[in-house]
Amino acid sequence: MVIAAVLAGGTGTRMGSALPKQFIEIAGVPIIIRSIQKLIGNKNVDRCIVAVGEDYVSYTRELIAAHIRTDKPVDVIVGGSFRGDTLVKVLAFMEENGILDSVILTHDAVRPFIDDRIIDDNILAARGYGACNTCVPAVDTVLLSKGGRYIDFVPPRSSVFHAQTPQSFDAKRLYELIRATPPEDFRQMTDGCSVFIYHGEKVFIVKGSENNIKITFPEDIIRAEAILKGGNNP
Ligand code: CTP
Repeated sequence: MVIAAVLAGGTGTRMGSALPKQFIEIAGVPIIIRSIQKLIGNKNVDRCIVAVGEDYVSYTRELIAAHIRTDKPVDVIVGGSFRGDTLVKVLAFMEENGILDSVILTHDAVRPFIDDRIIDDNILAARGYGACNTCVPAVDTVLLSKGGRYIDFVPPRSSVFHAQTPQSFDAKRLYELIRATPPEDFRQMTDGCSVFIYHGEKVFIVKGSENNIKITFPEDIIRAEAILKGGNNP
């Protein structure tokens, strides 16, 4: 089975809006609905699990009922206090429902411009390698600085990538590795890939796309509207 997990438990502090950013509409459709539509609409995805803040469960169910037309199951569950915690809630739900023996695509609800090519490549890579991340090569040179005052290291640009989502995994292995990670270390990790790397396991790189932006700041809404108008990813 292939499960798409839509991580939507955040509050969107940097967006600064009363409504968490995943519920903001772009051209009349909430961002979270655009992400769910892309994932559940992919022919290789069997089921979708959407994890949201406790106060948004009924609201999300109403939005799904109003916008999503599919025969596949779309579950809405309560997320966690940080992104990794939300991921654990999804894995626990999968275990309880006997579907842990699956590929899991973990996707930020706030990346509505995911496409079928990225989804299909993630599924293939997760099946072949156990773990993968969607990445694009860095355009700017990236600098490392511990204190933010002096430059410590300049990695060669050809070895620097920006991580997007989905990040996809053998779900059973991911849950095993998370359980084998000390909670204080897991708390520092923002994603499942970091857990595989922590345990010395390889994470394959899937090619992302420049359009697969993460909506973070108010100006990203304008960028998202421009991507929609461009017709590259309606
Ligand atoms: N996320 C989640 N559960 C959390 C925190 C974040 O599922 N407890 C999700 C967000 O909803 C988002 C994705 O992880 O879809 C990426 O996180 P980010 O863009 O940082 O979202 P927020 O935490 O909501 O934003 P901010 O950091 O500005 O507060």
